[in-house]
Amino acid sequence: MTEHTDDTDDTIEGHERELSAVREEHDDADDDVSLSLPGLSVDRRDFMKAGAAVGAATASAGCLDALSGGGSADQETASGGAKNHKVAPGELDDYYAFLSGGHSGEIRVMGVPSMRELLRIPVFTPEPASGYGYDDRTSEMLEEEGGGYSWGDTHHPRVSQTDNDYDGRWAFVNDKANGRMARIDLEYFETDAIVDIPNQQGTHGACCLLPDTKYVFGVGEFRVPMQNDGRDLDDPEAYTSTIAAINPETMNVEWEVEVDGNMDNGDGGKDGRWFFTTGYNSEHATTESGMTKADRDWVKAFDVPAIEAAVENGDYEEINGVPVVDGTRESPLNQSDRPVVRYVPTPKSPHGVSVTPDGDYAIASGKLDPTCTVIDVEKLAEADDPADAIVGRPRVGMGPLHTAYDGRGHAYTTLFIDSQVAKWDIEAAVEAEAGSEDPIVEKIDVHYNPGHLIASESYTADPEGDYLISLNKLSKDRFLNVGPLKPENDQLIYIGDDEEGMQLVKDKPSYAEPHDASIVSADKIDPADVYDPSDYDAEFVAEGDESIERIDDSTVHVKTYVKRNEYAFPEIRVQEGDEVRITASNVEETSDITHGMAIPEYDVDLALAPQDTREVTFTADEPGVYWVYCSYFCSALHLEMRSRLIVEPSE
Ligand code: CUA
Repeated sequence: MTEHTDDTDDTIEGHERELSAVREEHDDADDDVSLSLPGLSVDRRDFMKAGAAVGAATASAGCLDALSGGGSADQETASGGAKNHKVAPGELDDYYAFLSGGHSGEIRVMGVPSMRELLRIPVFTPEPASGYGYDDRTSEMLEEEGGGYSWGDTHHPRVSQTDNDYDGRWAFVNDKANGRMARIDLEYFETDAIVDIPNQQGTHGACCLLPDTKYVFGVGEFRVPMQNDGRDLDDPEAYTSTIAAINPETMNVEWEVEVDGNMDNGDGGKDGRWFFTTGYNSEHATTESGMTKADRDWVKAFDVPAIEAAVENGDYEEINGVPVVDGTRESPLNQSDRPVVRYVPTPKSPHGVSVTPDGDYAIASGKLDPTCTVIDVEKLAEADDPADAIVGRPRVGMGPLHTAYDGRGHAYTTLFIDSQVAKWDIEAAVEAEAGSEDPIVEKIDVHYNPGHLIASESYTADPEGDYLISLNKLSKDRFLNVGPLKPENDQLIYIGDDEEGMQLVKDKPSYAEPHDASIVSADKIDPADVYDPSDYDAEFVAEGDESIERIDDSTVHVKTYVKRNEYAFPEIRVQEGDEVRITASNVEETSDITHGMAIPEYDVDLALAPQDTREVTFTADEPGVYWVYCSYFCSALHLEMRSRLIVEPSE
């Protein structure tokens, strides 16, 4: 454990010195482990070579690139011996990975193990290729429910579960920038709801209360005045941060809990009782040096049934339409024998927290401390002092940020400063008397400075345990130089062979900036191939139902079908100043035949997948001829697929 001196230096340099002192100590204690500084890696064991040369028994059942037999019953071995982790052209991946896109405001969908990017799902930011934010429904969602911001900062994509397993319904993701949560419909792989969370700035963590996704939690990071309307500007003690419990069906914020200190990441327990967040700034400071003064911050454990009882009993204050429960340490609700929030002292500004697949432990990664803190969930419920629930504190390395699981009792923790992933044994860490046994199994270099990592189905009760992605913040020299703004590096690591060890399989450059991911078995998601018109409010315009109708002196409603290679009308004639509403349906039933409906100089951009209907409303305020054209390459006559918007000048 880190020894903290009383004369702690509060400067950045001071912390760096402290970290390097700990690091030297760590080097001495564990010289059997390879270490790398950012930008300089030294492999003790070259896992790549070992993986390629040795005939390792490999692979998850059902892996499509495994060629011939020879492994045990549930393993397959590639013909060359080692599993090559390739997905041949035309073959499909074993997993969907959902990665956040950071301040691109989107979610990316990637196949694993190929690491092929399959789709980008715009969430908080308009995106012209998919027409997101350009039709009436999605632009209203961004404007009205979404608060009208032009961008967002997605960090934590979490997929809904039933009975602690992925159910394929939704993915949820936070907006750290503007305090929002969004829902993505996994039938159509598109954003279908956004909620602007009251009383919360900087919604950082996002996660589900398991086993059945009763709530989606938005974890507020930035402390601000609860009524942030100009009061308490210079009184940081009066600032606060909240978690918000969101109903996944209605996306309504059901209640919030106000706490001491910042919050950071979160994860739900497996049995519906606990929800855990890490946090920093127990100091309630407003500067970096102030926020890193204390040797311990907290993991906050929210007792969900106790909070629900408080709401039921009226023990809350309604603020901006939301019941807010007082979960600060001094709150009367925390003085009873069933506190609403338990504050577990944890070194030092802990960053990630994740619950083990069996639900027994919540493990927090120390960030400014080289340890992880293992919290026994059952003990937490009984202990008078929440600190008594801490049952392990393995020293994993420098800058531990996040921990994932393989379902075989191992934890994998990213080490930001060491540029490594540490694999360690959870029970060994719990059983170890201080210093008696090293629970570290092995470490692998990653390139460079990993933030999150995610193992296949790590957030469920039954992880697959074969692949892990390390989301590295820096790529430096790993790719062709594209100038100063370099890609991140998402590295695929095979973790399915405990004897052979972790094997680095692939580098995948990615545009700024994935923070976190969920990896879901492909057979647990069942996306539609074409739209079902009954799923949307907009009226489907079949062939024969087309019309151009003047509603009143200044309003025209155009209903048009769209198909290869025509719009219903070769021309649409309106008067200068008319408000024009277009309802357009792609009547194609053929998979993958998408049409566009673009109108130059009117900023109209619809994308219509098969059987989809979109509406757009605009004011025809400039007389002239405007070619309506198809923006998706749909057939050999794609260029000729046209219509004219004719805007006649008013007299
Ligand atoms: Cu329709 Cu191109």
